[in-house]
Amino acid sequence: MYVGIDAGASATKAIIINERGMHISHAIVPSGINFKFSSQKALRKALKDAHLNSGNILHSVATGYGRALIDAESTSSEITCISRGVHKLLPSARTIIDVGGQDSKAIRINEGGRVLNFIMNDKCAAGTGKFLEVMASTLRMPIEELGKLHLKASNPVKISSTCTVFAESEVISHISQGIKIEDVIAGLQDAIAERIYNMCSRIGFAKDFAFTGGVAKSQGFVEALSKKVGAIPLIPEEPQIICALGAALAAIKKHKEK
Ligand SMILES: Nc1ncnc2c1ncn2[C@@H]1O[C@H](COP(=O)(O)OP(=O)(O)OP(=O)(O)O)[C@@H](O)[C@H]1O
Ligand SMILES: [Mg+2]
Repeated sequence: MYVGIDAGASATKAIIINERGMHISHAIVPSGINFKFSSQKALRKALKDAHLNSGNILHSVATGYGRALIDAESTSSEITCISRGVHKLLPSARTIIDVGGQDSKAIRINEGGRVLNFIMNDKCAAGTGKFLEVMASTLRMPIEELGKLHLKASNPVKISSTCTVFAESEVISHISQGIKIEDVIAGLQDAIAERIYNMCSRIGFAKDFAFTGGVAKSQGFVEALSKKVGAIPLIPEEPQIICALGAALAAIKKHKEK
């Protein structure tokens, strides 16, 4: 078996695959402040679900923000791992958008899955999952609820602030003026979709486009992004573990090279 661990800024993901790259099990746990601890926890969970132990692992690769801090035999960059994971599951994808807890990335790949170009926003919370987390907390609801409520919106408001802190004040002001919460939420998600689309436009869009990262689980956000891009993204069954999958696929390669 081969292991990929993605120590992301928000969540740590561990995946176990077999020598053919087939998914055996995975686990997602909060990263907290100790990547070593979260990665051990995620791996333990994934091993337990698959009724395996660490003796069954031939090679492990770490990726993500905290990759240097965890126990794995090798490391690989997030851009490479996301591209590898997407190419395995969605081979027609040529553009990938990954929106995680702390950054957002757009990647162009060729028909062989090779990275042609990429762009990343890791300077500002607006345009990332963090923005949604802050807004969910302001509105006192779980983040999953934002995506569902968005779908009920009939007249989304325009959120004009491009900064998370100012956008939060704008949200409070809209709510206090009696605007429906679903219209505020839709406005928020439209604002992030626009930011991400603008970032992605700088490297050009090529079809098909895939959407990964935890934020791809929000149906409302997927709708906002589709509207902006003018195309419906390909989304893997569990979009949050694609980077970890790419790391596990790299583990197979590294083991063969040994
Ligand atoms: N159902 C959901 N709806 C909306 N957002 C979600 C949902 N599930 C998870 N998220 C968001 O996804 C983000 C985490 O995604 P992911 O695990 O891809 O990030 P990460 O890899 O830890 O971060 P980064 O890539 O920036 O280092 C969090 O902001 C979380 O709130
Ligand atoms: Mg990530």
